[in-house]
Amino acid sequence: MSDLTKLCDIGLIGLGVMGKNLALNLADNGYSVAAFDLDAGRVNAAVAQDEAERGSQDPRLVPCQSFEDLLSKTKQSRIIILSIPAGKPVDSVCSQLLALGLNLDDIVVDTGNSLWSDTVEREASYQGKFVFFSCAVSGGEVGARFGPSLMPSGDETAWARLAPVLEAISAKVDAKTGLPLVNNEPGNPVKEGEPCVTYIGPAGAGHYVKMVHNGIEYADMQLICEAYDYMRNALSMQPKEIAAVLREWNKGELNSYLIEISAEVLEQYDPETGKPIVDVIVDKAGQKGTGLWTAVSSLQVGSAATAIAQAVFSRALSSIKTQRVAASKIYKAPAKASFSEEEKQEQIKHLHDALYCAKICAYAQGFDLMKMAAKEQGWTLDYAKIAKIWRAGCIIRAVFLQSITEAYQRDAELENLLLDGFFAEQISKFEGSWREAIIGSIKAGIPMPAINSSLSYYDSFRTAVLPANLLQGQRDFFGAHTFERTDKPAGEKYHLEWSLPERPLVKIS
Ligand code: 6PG
Repeated sequence: MSDLTKLCDIGLIGLGVMGKNLALNLADNGYSVAAFDLDAGRVNAAVAQDEAERGSQDPRLVPCQSFEDLLSKTKQSRIIILSIPAGKPVDSVCSQLLALGLNLDDIVVDTGNSLWSDTVEREASYQGKFVFFSCAVSGGEVGARFGPSLMPSGDETAWARLAPVLEAISAKVDAKTGLPLVNNEPGNPVKEGEPCVTYIGPAGAGHYVKMVHNGIEYADMQLICEAYDYMRNALSMQPKEIAAVLREWNKGELNSYLIEISAEVLEQYDPETGKPIVDVIVDKAGQKGTGLWTAVSSLQVGSAATAIAQAVFSRALSSIKTQRVAASKIYKAPAKASFSEEEKQEQIKHLHDALYCAKICAYAQGFDLMKMAAKEQGWTLDYAKIAKIWRAGCIIRAVFLQSITEAYQRDAELENLLLDGFFAEQISKFEGSWREAIIGSIKAGIPMPAINSSLSYYDSFRTAVLPANLLQGQRDFFGAHTFERTDKPAGEKYHLEWSLPERPLVKIS
């Protein structure tokens, strides 16, 4: 039981949905929390919720009126958690705390969706003043409250101090089955099982891995939306009927949080009109930027994260609603085909298989991106552990992540998930259906950019000789950019003198 006449174990700044729930989660796990937000109403609401859940005999959230107040109410060798918007607010709060007197052994933990390179800079710029540590959080508000997936990185001594706290508040999975152990009951956190937190690496690595998590999340969501679109508009199915299909899919390989919530959204009716809620939600996707950062990073490191980039492009296309409405009046969709019940069921099966194969590709791309970035940054990432901590708590949690964990446990140096025996077998089993689904979408004029680009990724990946030989010829033709020969050692460069009539071959290096 906590004694509030004593200093608090942890200071927490920012009591929005995520911050408040992290504070309550910490309290559930026995930590006393000095809580502050610029909005005093949020402080009062968080303290009131803690008291309501725990009873006024055992409050664990201590309200603070200012940064100074929070510093004075937190135990020395402070742990201060920031749950504030990424970007400038993080710098602003850090400099205000620093001006009030942070110590060398104080740890400030940034839990926001910060850009990983900002984290690298912050860690360096605060060195010798206090420890700037990052711990990316996934799981939305319920995750924050009852167990998120956590991706900490930075100073290893700080990690040693933070590990017990982060392990306590994180989601847990059953060590034998890899399945989440859930209890969404206040005051009763899950204590057993494997915690969904692991030290990721030096500063920035955790935020990078979280960024890729979000990129995969974008792809995963887009893939589900494409399958929905086909069922709704080519197969003329009602939202409720589609929800039933998703619930069925959720019993197998596709079992995931995102499939589950998609079914819930499709089953929901609008309280105002009584229509399916999905029909009154405007089809313009928002975004806060992490998917875009992932796509940009994939271009920069040269990793073909096509499904992730496509998901970002799809959000962009969704947002130009006025133009789309205008275009819909100019361009006719292909005539709608009608399908027998048997044909419809067959197409639903194709969609399932296409979704599964495309999902494998999207995850393969995300892990490849992390691998390429780690090489560039000199990080040693443990991919089996990353897959493990995504098995529960986070938005992309899925049964499927157990298979990814096992693939990297079989081979920690695995070049690409598509080279793992299990995934190769899965793709071969469902590939035909994947192609059929895409043929169907093309005929019906239903866009399936992420499912489609994943197939192109797979087809490129499995092809020993790509037309880049012609491309290299083109580059050499107009720019003397040279090429390597299939019959000579790698690295030897050749150029053909295209402008001379005899076109002689010249060895450049
Ligand atoms: C998570 C989520 C979380 C947030 C996304 C939403 O892992 O808990 O990814 O980080 O909900 O940033 O992103 P968009 O607003 O860009 O869709």
